[in-house]
Amino acid sequence: MRPSSYPDQEVSSINWQAFKLILPYLFEYKKRIAFAMFCLILTKIASVYLPFILKDIVDTLDANSSNDQSALMIVPLGLVAAYGLVRLSIVVFAEIRDTLFGRVTERAIRRIGLKVFRHLHSLDLDFHLNRQTGGLSRDIDRGTSGINFLMRFMVFNIVPTLLEIVMVVTILFVKYGIWFALITLSSIITYIAYSIFATELRTRYVRAANIADSSSNTRAIDSLLNYETVKYFTNEEFEAQAYDQQLLTWEQAKIKNRLSLFALNGGQALIIAIAMTAMLALAANEVAAGAMTLGDFVLINAFMMQLFMPLNFLGFVYREIKGSLANIENLFGLLAKKPKVQDVADAVALNLTSQDDRATSQDTSHLTSHMREQANIVFDNITFAYNVKRPIIKGISFNVNAGEKVAVVGQSGSGKSTLVKLLFRFYDVDSGTIKINQQDISQISQKSLRTHIGIVPQDTVLFNDTLFNNVQYGCPTASKEEVLKAIDLAHLSEFIISLPDGLETVVGERGLKLSGGEKQRVAIARTILKDPQILVFDEATSSLDSQSEQAILTAINEVAKSRTSLVIAHRLSTIIDSDNIIVMSHGEIVEQGNHQQLLAQEGQYSKMWQLQQS
Ligand SMILES: Nc1ncnc2c1ncn2[C@@H]1O[C@H](COP(=O)(O)OP(=O)(O)O)[C@@H](O)[C@H]1O
Ligand SMILES: [Mg+2]
Repeated sequence: MRPSSYPDQEVSSINWQAFKLILPYLFEYKKRIAFAMFCLILTKIASVYLPFILKDIVDTLDANSSNDQSALMIVPLGLVAAYGLVRLSIVVFAEIRDTLFGRVTERAIRRIGLKVFRHLHSLDLDFHLNRQTGGLSRDIDRGTSGINFLMRFMVFNIVPTLLEIVMVVTILFVKYGIWFALITLSSIITYIAYSIFATELRTRYVRAANIADSSSNTRAIDSLLNYETVKYFTNEEFEAQAYDQQLLTWEQAKIKNRLSLFALNGGQALIIAIAMTAMLALAANEVAAGAMTLGDFVLINAFMMQLFMPLNFLGFVYREIKGSLANIENLFGLLAKKPKVQDVADAVALNLTSQDDRATSQDTSHLTSHMREQANIVFDNITFAYNVKRPIIKGISFNVNAGEKVAVVGQSGSGKSTLVKLLFRFYDVDSGTIKINQQDISQISQKSLRTHIGIVPQDTVLFNDTLFNNVQYGCPTASKEEVLKAIDLAHLSEFIISLPDGLETVVGERGLKLSGGEKQRVAIARTILKDPQILVFDEATSSLDSQSEQAILTAINEVAKSRTSLVIAHRLSTIIDSDNIIVMSHGEIVEQGNHQQLLAQEGQYSKMWQLQQS
C-alpha cells in the first residue's frame, strides 16, 4: 500500500555527530551559556553543601542531648536557617540557569527550523512528490523536539550529575576514606554500564514502535486528506481496517517496549539497593565503633540519595538522548539532501525587465497595456524522462516568438504539462536546451526565471485562506485596488459578490470549497496580478462551461495581448487564433501550423477538430 516515509535509521551506538551539528547554533549566545554554566556550578556546590549542614544540625542536637538536659533548649537556629537558605538558593540558581539556557535552545530551534523550511522549498518537485507530507512534518517535529530534549538533559541532567558525582566521590574519599568512595564509584559505574547496555538492547523495540507510530500517522493523514475519495467509494471500513492494522503493529511494538523497560528499571533498582545497603552498613558500623558521628551517617545517607536520584532517570535519559540524536540527524539529513535542480554557480538573472516598469508607471492599468520587454522561448531538441526507463519527451523543438500565442494540443499523457514543468525548471531536461531570449534557462537563476513566467496550472491548489489573500499571493505587495482589478479581469467579481463573505470567504483546504472553474479563475487573477512577460495556461479553461470559458478567453486574450504565451488546450475552439499550434503525441510533435494549415493537412488535428465539432 502507500509507503511509510519513515527512513530506516540504523544507529546502533550513540552518535555524537548530531551534537556537533547543533553546536554552531548554540554558540550564538556565548555569554548566556557561560552564565548558565556558572549558575549550574553554583547549584551543584550548594546541593553538595546541603548534607553538611544537615550533619552539623544532627551533631549539634546529638551533642546537646547527650551532654546536659538544659542545653536541649538550644536548637541550632543558625544552622536550620542556613539549611533553608541553601535549599532556596539551589532552586533560585537552577531557575536562572533554566531561563538563561531556554533562550539559547529556543533560538537554535527557531534558526534550524527556518533553515529546514527554506531548504524544503528549495528541494525539487520530485522530492516532494515522493515524500509523504505527514511523515515529513513528523520528522521535523521529532528533530526539533530532539534538540530541545538534548539540550535540556545535557545541561540540566547529565552535566550537573557528572559534576556532582565527582564532587561527592572526592569528598567521601577525603573525609571518610577509600572504601566509601570506592563503593560509590563502582556502584555508579555498574549502574551506568547496566543502563546503557539494557537501553541498547531495547533500542530495537523503541525503533519499531517509532516506525509504527510514523506509518500509522502517515496512513491516517493520507486517508483524511482523501476524505472525499473515501466517501465516494464508501471505503470508510477499509480505511479504518488499514489504519487499525497499523495501530496493531504499533501496539505490539509498544508492548515489547514496555517489557524491556521493566527489565531496565528493575535492574537499576537492584543496583541502587545493593549500593545503598552496603554504604549504610559500612557507615553504621563506623558509628557503632565510634569512628563516625551520627551526623556523618546522615550525611552519607543524604549524599547517596542525592546521587542516585538523578541516576534513576539515566536509562530514560540515555535512550531519549540517543533517540534525540537520531532524530536530529534525521532532520539534518533533510538539510543534506541536495536539490536535483540547482542554480549554476554563476547563475545570472534572466535578461528582461519585468515588474519594475510598474514602479515608474503612474497608472494602475499596467495589467493590460503599455510597453514591456519581450521574451521569446526556444525549445531546442529537448528530451526528458521522469524515469530513465520511460522517455516522456522525445526530441521536441519549437519556438514561441515574442508576443506570440502558441498552442500545444494532444491527447492526455502526451507530455504537454511536462513541457511546462521543464520550462519552469521543476526538472532539468535530459538533453537539448530551452532558451528564453537566447539565454539557456539552466544557466539563469531559478528565481529570476520563475519571476518572469506566470502559470495557470492544470490543477490549481489554493491556500486555506481567504479569496482575497489567495489572489494577492500573485504579488504580495499589490494594493487592494490592484487585486480587485485582477479579480475583475479574471471574471471573478460576479462570483465573489454572490458569496455572503465576499472576498473574505475562506476557500478550504487546498481550495476544495471552490469549484474547478472558480479555482481556475482565482489562478488566472493571481497570474494577472503577477504580471509576467511569459504566460502559460495549462488547460486553464478545461473545467469551465462554454459561457464562462468564453468570458475567460476574452480576459486571457486581453492579458496575453502584449505577452508571449504558451497555451495548452484541450478544447481546440479555444486556440484557433493561435499563431502556431503544436500537435503532440507520445512526446513527439506530429504536426504544427496555424488552424487553417492544420485543417488543410487533414491529419490528427483535423480529426480532433471534427470530433470536437460534432
Ligand atoms: N512526476 C512524475 N513522475 C513520473 N511520471 C510522470 C510524472 N508526471 C507525469 N508523469 C507521466 O508523464 C506523462 C506525461 O504527463 P503530462 O505531461 O502530465 O501529460 P499531459 O499534460 O499531456 O496530459 C504521463 O504519462 C504521466 O503519467
Ligand atoms: Mg496536462
